[in-house]
Amino acid sequence: MKQSEKLIAGNWKMNGLGADLEGVVQDLKRELQAEPASCRVAICPPATLLSRLADAVSGQAVEVGGQDCRAETHGAFTGGVSAAMLKDAGATLVIVGHSERRQEFGETDRLVSAKAEAAVQAGLAPIVCVGETLEQRQAGRAVEVVRGQVMNSLPLAVAGRDFAVAYEPVWAIGTGLTPTLEQIEEVHRAVRAAMLERLGLASAAAPILYGGSVKPDNARDILAVPEVGGALVGGASLKASDFLGIIRAV
Ligand code: PGA
Repeated sequence: MKQSEKLIAGNWKMNGLGADLEGVVQDLKRELQAEPASCRVAICPPATLLSRLADAVSGQAVEVGGQDCRAETHGAFTGGVSAAMLKDAGATLVIVGHSERRQEFGETDRLVSAKAEAAVQAGLAPIVCVGETLEQRQAGRAVEVVRGQVMNSLPLAVAGRDFAVAYEPVWAIGTGLTPTLEQIEEVHRAVRAAMLERLGLASAAAPILYGGSVKPDNARDILAVPEVGGALVGGASLKASDFLGIIRAV
């Protein structure tokens, strides 16, 4: 992953049925064929749609990713999906440690690190998510919290590999609120410093995505902030025109 290449990744969360692929993906394909994206583009649909989406975008410059994986390769884990299974279904990336999973399923940095390592071992690029809560930001601890998450959630196995970190303030996700551009820059610089400390120069090319209420009308400013290497987009990735608006802002 070259540092100059930004990554715009859509996270559909628990949204989308087969019928939705028609609309969103056909529009996206048509527009990107007419004018190719100047960045890497990925969509992370629910696991049930992975292989259908992979078929629908095959041969296009759109990658497909999972939203989570187990740290184990296989076994008696009812409902679990391994990194190799995602890859087998056509994924090239996987989100790990999203704040919704950290909060709802109690995922720790240690577990997130194990998932990222499993992803790399299966040949997937992990997108490792970090971000502070509102209470942590209000207590002046945003940088410290995010730095700790980066140091403890990135396994050494990602060094020199295709991976990304996504900085997503918990309070900005799905709320329409975003940090100021200065706050985004401050945290992204701290994330880069922590990555270099943890992994050395082998991590210098990995992009740091910003996530949390990215929309077509704020994407251009956010993507121009130093050390912002792309965006992880939730709500605005569900509509082709909004997602395209963000892709075109790169
Ligand atoms: P949002 O979600 O863009 O809807 O705020 C971002 C995310 O959770 O990745």
